[in-house]
Amino acid sequence: MLVTDCTVLDLPKLADGRGNLSIIEDNRQIPFAIKRAYWIYDVPGGDERGGHAYRRNQEFIVALSGSFDVVIRDGQDERVFSLNRSYKGVYVPGGLWRVMRNFSTNSVALILASEEYDEGDYIMDFDEFKQWKADEAADRI
Ligand code: TYD
Repeated sequence: MLVTDCTVLDLPKLADGRGNLSIIEDNRQIPFAIKRAYWIYDVPGGDERGGHAYRRNQEFIVALSGSFDVVIRDGQDERVFSLNRSYKGVYVPGGLWRVMRNFSTNSVALILASEEYDEGDYIMDFDEFKQWKADEAADRI
């Protein structure tokens, strides 16, 4: 997987005088079935989250409130997605390094995941990640 495999996806937005409503369903607005949802909030100013890769887990990340950046790296290139709308999110396939940073005050990041939590799916060291990507590429030749 490469940074170019990440995509920003628009969610339905049902605008209404009473407020807006957006929707995410398995394999419809996002390209996987949701096994897990978690959210990150009350991030102190200047702190980062993530800073690891998943081997398999795919994610869809939405700024439900406020704003933050999702930085994706594939070992060669980097892309930064600035999220600040609750009807848009970024799809991140497995096999990519990701960091979340620049959280605004009171921001809430909703993360939908394709896998259950599995500590063994994480790669926590960037050099190890780059080696894993290189081994993966060599296996494909
Ligand atoms: P981590 O994935 O490192 O968070 P982030 O990538 O946002 O910095 O998880 C932080 C802690 O929470 C770690 O101890 C594992 C635990 N955790 C779970 O138990 N279940 C989960 O689904 C997630 C995402 C984390």
